[in-house]
Amino acid sequence: MIRRFTFGNPIPTEAVVLNIEKRKAVPPIDESIAVMDGMAEIKRTVNGFIMKMRDEDIVYGLGENVRGINKRGWVYESNNSDEPKHEETRKSLYGSHNFIVIAGEKPSENYGLFIDTPGKVRFDIGYSKYDELKIEVIPADGDSEDYTSELNLDLYIIEEDTVLKTVKSFRGLVGKSYIAPKWAFGYGQSRWSYMSSDEVREVVKKHRDNHIPLDSLYLDIDYMDDFMDFTINPDTFADFKELVEDMKKEHIHLVPIIDAGVKVKEGYKVYDEGVQNGYFCKDENGEDFIVGVWPGKCVLPDMLNDEARAWFGNWYKVLLDLGIDGFWNDMNEPALFYSEKRLKKVFDEIGEYKNKNLDVNTFFEFSELAGSIANNPEDYKSFYHNYKGQKIRHDKVHNLFGYYMTRSASEAFKRLVPDKNILMYSRSSYIGMHRYAGIWQGDNRAFWSHLLMNIQMMPSLNMCGFLYTGADLGGFGDDTTSDLMIRWLSFGIFTPLMRNHSARGTRRQEVYQFDSKSMDMMSGIISLRYRLIHYLYDAYTKACEQDEMMFRPLGMDYPSDKDARRVEDQLMIGDAIMVAPVYTQNATGRSVYIPENMTMLRFKGAELVEKTSLTKGHTFIDMPLGEVCIFVREDKELKLADAGAEYVEE
Ligand code: GLC
Repeated sequence: MIRRFTFGNPIPTEAVVLNIEKRKAVPPIDESIAVMDGMAEIKRTVNGFIMKMRDEDIVYGLGENVRGINKRGWVYESNNSDEPKHEETRKSLYGSHNFIVIAGEKPSENYGLFIDTPGKVRFDIGYSKYDELKIEVIPADGDSEDYTSELNLDLYIIEEDTVLKTVKSFRGLVGKSYIAPKWAFGYGQSRWSYMSSDEVREVVKKHRDNHIPLDSLYLDIDYMDDFMDFTINPDTFADFKELVEDMKKEHIHLVPIIDAGVKVKEGYKVYDEGVQNGYFCKDENGEDFIVGVWPGKCVLPDMLNDEARAWFGNWYKVLLDLGIDGFWNDMNEPALFYSEKRLKKVFDEIGEYKNKNLDVNTFFEFSELAGSIANNPEDYKSFYHNYKGQKIRHDKVHNLFGYYMTRSASEAFKRLVPDKNILMYSRSSYIGMHRYAGIWQGDNRAFWSHLLMNIQMMPSLNMCGFLYTGADLGGFGDDTTSDLMIRWLSFGIFTPLMRNHSARGTRRQEVYQFDSKSMDMMSGIISLRYRLIHYLYDAYTKACEQDEMMFRPLGMDYPSDKDARRVEDQLMIGDAIMVAPVYTQNATGRSVYIPENMTMLRFKGAELVEKTSLTKGHTFIDMPLGEVCIFVREDKELKLADAGAEYVEE
C-alpha cells in the first residue's frame, strides 16, 4: 500500500511515475500523520517529520552515502555535492536518494518513506537521539522563516508484508530502471586521462597481449579540444574516427566523458548556439552566469528547461556519428571551481591580508577565504533556471541538475539512435534518473575503507533504482597497492559497472603495471567475471524488469534470522549467490555468516578449485589473495561460462 501526503506546493521532480491519489487533509504540526502497526507513529513537525525507532529497528536506504548498510547513528543530508572526500564525517555525496525503509524484528514490521523534493533534506537517524528518526527540510536561505510554508513536498508512505516487497512497491512507484547493454558488463579501463589515440591503442594492446579481458576504454577530459564538450583534440586525437573503428574491430568500446560546464568562447558552436537561444543559466540580472570548470570560464546549460535540454542532448550526435556508443556525464552536481563573482570578491578580500601579521584568527580566516571558492553555497543561490515556464533559483532545485543533464542525453539517444542501446551513466543523480542511466560512485580513494563502502553502498543504491553502478576499482585518488587492487577486483567482478579508474598524478593502476605475480592474479579474477557474466547480466535485467534489488543485505532475504539481520559486510547477489569479500589489508581469510546451508565454490583466478558444503552458522573461511569464494544457495545453481573469454560476445 502506498499513501501520498502532499504538503504545500511541491516543485515537481518527475521522480514518480504512478499517480497516487493525494490524501485530502494533511495533518497540522505535532499531529499524527500515520501509525505504523506495532512500530511507530509518524508525526508532523514544524519542518518535517519525526518518529520513534526501537532498539531492534534497522534503517535501510539513502542510496549513495557514506557509512553502513544500516544507516542508524548518523545524520545525512540530501545535497548533491562534488565531494572527493568520502569520509565518515560527510553527510552528502553526489546524489540525493530520499528513500528509507525502517525494518523491525518481525518481517512484516516495516515501512518505507520517500520524501520527494528537489531541495535539501536532513535525515537524523538516531544521531541526536538514539531512538528518534527526524526528517527535516532545510529551507532555502533567504526564504521565509515561517517553516510551515516551507514544507513543500510529497511524502509517500509505503507498507508491504516484507522489506523486499516494500522496496518493490516503491520501485513500481518510481518506474523501471535503466538497462545497460551487455558489453557494459565487461571490464573497463580508465585513467584521467589517456592523452592521445596512440596511448589508447597502447593500453588496449597491452591488455590483449597479456590476455587481460577488456571491453571498454574510457576517454577522460583530455580527448577534447581545450576541454570543450563535443569537440575532439585535433592534435592528439586527430584520427578519432579511425580509432573508434579500429577499437571496434578489437571489440573495444570507447567511452568519452561529457561535462556539465560549456566553455565561454565565441566561435565555439555549442557556446554560440546556447547564447543565441538563451539556453544557459542566468544570474539575477538575466545575464549568463559564469562559473569556472576545467576550461576556465564556463556557462551551465539550463538542463531543467525542456528546450535547452533537448538542444544539449542533440549535441551527443557529434560523438554518436563517430561511432561512440557509451558516455559518462560528469561534474553535474553541478561542480563549480568558482563563480566569476566570488573569485573577484575573494581576490579583493585576500589582498587585505597581505601586510597583516597572520595570527590564530586571521590565519584561519585567510585560509578559509581561499577554501571557500569552490562549490560555495552562495553561488548556488545566484543563478536561475527556467523550469516548466517559471524562473526558479537554482538552490531550490539543486538536486535535479545531474538527473536532468543525464536525461537530456538519454532522451536524445531515443530520438537519434532509437535502435541502439547506449551506455550512459552519471556522477550526480536524484531518484527518477535511474530510469535513464546508471551512476558511478564518484571520486573514492585507494583506501581499504572505501572498498567496504563500495560493498555497503550497493544495496542502498539498488533500493533506490540504481542498478547499473560500481565504484572506481582500486581507488580514484591516491596511490593504490597491488593487494588493494586484487581485493577490490575480487568484489568488483560482481558489480554491473566494473571499471578501474584513477586520477592523474596517482600510481598507474592498469593491471599490467603491477609485478607479474600480481598481474596474473588480477587477470585471473577479471577472467572469472567473464565466466559469471551471464548469471550477473540475467540477475541484473531481471531485477530491472521486476523492480527488484540485485544486491541485497542478508537481513532482507532472511528477515527472521537475527544474525543475518546484523551482517554488514556480506551481500546476496541475484537469486543464487552470496559474497563475503575481504576488505582488510593482510587478512588471508574472514568470518562468514552462512544463513542457510550453502555450497562454497572456491576459484583461483577463473579456475574452480574447490566445492564444499557448508552448514548454516558462523564459520571462518581462508581466502588468500587471488582466490574468490562464492556461496551458492542450497537449492540453486550457479551456471558458469567457459573460461578464456577476452571480451563480451554480443
Ligand atoms: C572528476 C570525475 C573523475 C574524472 C575527473 C576528470 O573528478 O569524478 O572521474 O576523472 O573529474 O575528468
